[in-house]
Amino acid sequence: MDLAAAFSADKLSILRRNLRRWYGKHGRHLPWRAAGDPYRVWISEIMLQQTTVTAVIPYYERFLARFPDLQTLAEAPEQEVLRLWEGLGYYSRARNIHKTARKLCHERGGNFPRHLDELLALPGIGRYTAGAIASFAFNQSAPIVEANTLRLYCRLLGYEGDPRSTEGQRLLWEFAERLVPSQKPGEFNQALMDLGATVCTPTEPKCPSCPLRSICHAFQQGRQHEIPRLVKRVAMTEVTEASVAVRKQGTFLLRQRRDEERWAGMWDFPRFEFDDDLNKATLSRLAQSLRKLTGIEARELQRVETIRHTVTRYRITLHCLSAEFVSGRLLCKDSPMKWISPRQFEDLALSMTARKFARLLTKGTNQ
Ligand code: ADE
Repeated sequence: MDLAAAFSADKLSILRRNLRRWYGKHGRHLPWRAAGDPYRVWISEIMLQQTTVTAVIPYYERFLARFPDLQTLAEAPEQEVLRLWEGLGYYSRARNIHKTARKLCHERGGNFPRHLDELLALPGIGRYTAGAIASFAFNQSAPIVEANTLRLYCRLLGYEGDPRSTEGQRLLWEFAERLVPSQKPGEFNQALMDLGATVCTPTEPKCPSCPLRSICHAFQQGRQHEIPRLVKRVAMTEVTEASVAVRKQGTFLLRQRRDEERWAGMWDFPRFEFDDDLNKATLSRLAQSLRKLTGIEARELQRVETIRHTVTRYRITLHCLSAEFVSGRLLCKDSPMKWISPRQFEDLALSMTARKFARLLTKGTNQ
């Protein structure tokens, strides 16, 4: 597609004028916007990767209340950062944020880099996030393409190819570069995103109230429902597991998930792949697996409840079992493990299913 032909200079000036006017009336007031502080923009953008604005707002507010700046974040233990991220998913985002805060404090005196290349070199920061920080916080005319703007650009251009393909990405980034002005680029990019999120929505776009309908190729062809081309959804993976809460004098055994595991860094009751029926033989095998993983001998394994939980691409069925400690010493060679009182559950970052299980175990006990 030839961008200059598909989107003339006239269209470009209509877009800039109409979008600014629209944003003045309809722009969203989001908590990370006002200050233009790179730290706030960074935290919010990392939280917003793969997560909706509505889900992010309460997490963002709690996070900023506890870690108001880079220094405070850098000085905190990783567990505390993960605890505040608990439930938001993709925990490597939180670990990267923490690592980056430490790096920026040690190597750059706590200052955020301003340039796209330096931003891109930080863990967890891709082209979109770098563009967002550079434009929202430093007022640089850096382009952005994320889910909302991608859809908007495809429709404006009438682009029928796959927007996630190499060719599609090249075209859309080039288009974004053409659009972004040198005057107030941050505000302009936020306006594009808001229009994508609230008017140019994935289904039932509100074309009659769109300020860009007169220059939108998809609208003019009546094809806004077909563009962008739908991407194949990732297949869900069914996972069936068993988690054992071993009790010893009012405490429970927890283990921290290793780097190569799902939910790395989060604490969990010892967990095993398990898609058998629960019977005497399978419970005895589970007790053996428990001994092998933890060094602990337990008896009276019994089911407390089976919970179902869908997260990212996993549909998890988790048999939650309790057991009594008999003997043994903790084998902490692969991952940290410890005996935790129910009162301390609140201080640890738990996997979502472990949190549900912990609540079942402490229900009615006033912990
Ligand atoms: N999605 C990703 N970044 C966003 C932002 N800054 N505002 C609204 N939605 C977003």
